This record gives sequence, C-alpha cells and structure tokens, in this order.
Amino acid sequence: MREQLELQANQIELVLASHKIPSRVVGGTVTPLNVRFELAMRMDTRLAQLKGLSEEIALSLHAPSCRVVRDNGALNIEVPRTDPLRVALLDVCRRLAFAPPCSPVLGLDERGTPLLLNLPSPDVAHVLISGTTGSGKTALARSMALSLALHNAQRQVQIVLVDPKGHGFAPLAALPHLLCPPVTTVVEATSRLTRLTQEMERRDSEGVNLPRLVVFIDELADLLMMGGKEMEYALTRLSQRGREAGVHLVACTQKPTVAVIGSLTKANFPARIVGSVTSPEEARTAAGISGTGAERLQGRGDFLLIHKGQATRFAAAYISGEEASREALQLRTAGACHMAGRGGAGLVLQQAKWRGGASQAPRSLDRSNNCGSPAQSAGVAVREAFGRG
Ligand SMILES: Nc1ncnc2c1ncn2[C@@H]1O[C@H](COP(=O)(O)OP(=O)(O)OP(=O)(O)O)[C@@H](O)[C@H]1O
Ligand SMILES: [Mg+2]
Repeated sequence: MREQLELQANQIELVLASHKIPSRVVGGTVTPLNVRFELAMRMDTRLAQLKGLSEEIALSLHAPSCRVVRDNGALNIEVPRTDPLRVALLDVCRRLAFAPPCSPVLGLDERGTPLLLNLPSPDVAHVLISGTTGSGKTALARSMALSLALHNAQRQVQIVLVDPKGHGFAPLAALPHLLCPPVTTVVEATSRLTRLTQEMERRDSEGVNLPRLVVFIDELADLLMMGGKEMEYALTRLSQRGREAGVHLVACTQKPTVAVIGSLTKANFPARIVGSVTSPEEARTAAGISGTGAERLQGRGDFLLIHKGQATRFAAAYISGEEASREALQLRTAGACHMAGRGGAGLVLQQAKWRGGASQAPRSLDRSNNCGSPAQSAGVAVREAFGRG
C-alpha cells in the first residue's frame, strides 16, 4: 500500500510539474473510499488551474476521476481507492460514545470521524438527497432511518416511510418506531402527508414538538409528478413550517431541478446531500452552490454533505436489506431502543467520537517528518505515518 501511495504522490507531482506548477505532496489520508493527497504549493497557484488538471491527474493515476478540493488552507487531491471499503452502519453505531437526539448517522467523513446530522437544528430541519441512479440514496436513507430507531426511544422519534417503489424501505417494516406501515402508493402518501400537516397545526397551536416525526421519502420526483397539487401543497407546508412542530423531511430524488421539485425550493432544504451526478450543472442544482466537484463522486455511497456553503465528503454507512430487517425485528422484540441518545445540544454536524477500535479509521501518510512508527492521534483514529527518506 505504502509503495503505491508513494508512486501516486510522485505521479501527481510530475503531472503538475509538466504544467509548470511546482508542488509537493506532503502527506495524505487513506479513507474508506478515497486516498486524499495533501499538496504544498506556491502561494500564487490558481485553484481553477489545478481543478482544470483533475482529468489529466486521474488519467496518469489510472483512476476513473479525481477531485481537487481546498480544505481551509490546504489543497487536496482525492483519488478513489481501487479497493473501497464498505462502512458498516452497525459498526459505526456500536462505536459511537453517544448520539444526540434525532440525529441520524450519515457515515464517516474524510477523517474517519462518524458524521451525524442534527435534524432539530434550524440550520438543518429537512434534507434533500440527490444523485443519479446507483449513487446510493435509498441505501443512505435506510441507514439514516435505522440509526434513528437504534438511538432514539419511540417517545422521542417516530418515523414515516414513503416508498413509491415499495422496495428500498421494505426491510424496515417491522420497526417499532413506524407511525404507520411503509406507504407505497401515491394516494396513500397524499392522505398521510395531508394528515401530517394537520398534526403540524395541532402541535403549533399546543406548542409541542415531541415525538419528533421524521418522514423519509424515496423518489420525491415521482411522488410530486403523480400526487399533483395536493401533494405539492402538503410537502411545501411541511418543509416551510414543520421543524418548529418537530416534523422533518428526508427526501431522495434523482433530479433536483426546479422543474421537478417546484416550490420545494432551496430555502426549505438548508442541508443537501449530493451523490454522484453527471455534470457540473447538475452538481450545482443538486448542491445549491457551484464548484463542489460532485460530478466526480464515485457513486455507491460516495456523498457530499452541503451545509452553510461548505461541502463535507463522506462515505455513507451501509446496511443490507437482510441485516436491516433483522435489526428492525430485534428492536421490535426488545420493545425499547437499546442505544438511547443523551445530551448533545444544537450541533448541526455532530462529529462524534469513537468509543474505541479503528478498523475503518483512516491511515495517514505523513511525508513532512521522519517518524516511521504508528502513532496515536487525538482519540479519533490510529494513524500510520511514514517518512520519505
Ligand atoms: N454506502 C454504500 N456502500 C457500499 N455500497 C453501496 C452503498 N450505498 C449503496 N451501495 C450499493 O449501490 C447500489 C445502489 O444503491 P441505491 O439503490 O441506494 O441507489 P439509488 O441512488 O437509490 O438509485 P436509484 O435512483 O436507482 O433508486 C446498492 O444496491 C448497493 O449495492
Ligand atoms: Mg433509490
């Protein structure tokens, strides 16, 4: 592995040198899906020029694509691994020291830190997940829903699953947290969402917001197209005023264009999750901001969380349908949640601490100093550092 990293680092330096951009790869991190090379460059290097070379760098590394990103002061080049690892949802859940209320697990960020999304925060409230077919939207939504059920008691969180394909959320049908069986027809979905707007109004007038109701919607575009005005009205109301009443939407769609999602505009979805998309234009529509590089994501669980104009790349936590239905059944028989969350005020992104273990933690390559032995870093991950000699 180390040899390959060295070769790739040299290759990146060579490509940039051939364009008269002096650079040095000073280190990097191996994460479940990518290797992230950190570059030291001259102050006057233009980011746009570097981004323009991403195809060429990818070609020279025999990689399908790579993504150039600025992370605070540093410039990074992310190259997909040839041997990507699955991030197992149950592993991530087991290792969390605690999860704040109503905060679904997304996966592991580029540092290998668990990434959770605090839905009750005004900066989050509702989430739109977009990406082409196979980007992993349904799988991510399923992991998010299950993690909520694992971490929250029924009196804290209840879940509504809307699944027009009648497929992706079916494994969660036994969850004790479900307000009703998974909704699979448009007619049923329209009446359920309309009833939720009534519940929202009742809660508003009584000033209550518990249990929080999280509505997971797969294939939002289909639903809007077939559900007509009534559906659009209900969804718009919920996205505009749901949060205060404890109602949150997590919706998946292939096409997040205005033509498709209509009045459910950007302002109502402050947090976006973007998987692989086909073009920079689509990336901009999906993310709500330009220059995220979402068109270079790999699919199958490779996502960006866009929040407050910042993009955080993460590897989505995954659970197979079979495992998910086993967990759901187990929760039902246990009759109570076995990992109730505690505390955790107001954080939008909860970058939670590991309880221990490091099987999925990133390894870093540090070419700036000469330590040759494994080192422990700030309680998050075991890092392997090496010098370049
Ligand atoms: N986090 C993940 N890790 C590994 N593999 C994944 C992950 N998420 C999804 N996959 C793989 O990708 C496949 C497609 O995922 P999924 O069905 O969730 O995509 P989708 O975006 O919902 O596609 P569509 O728009 O067609 O419904 C899954 O069957 C699974 O094999
Ligand atoms: Mg899907």
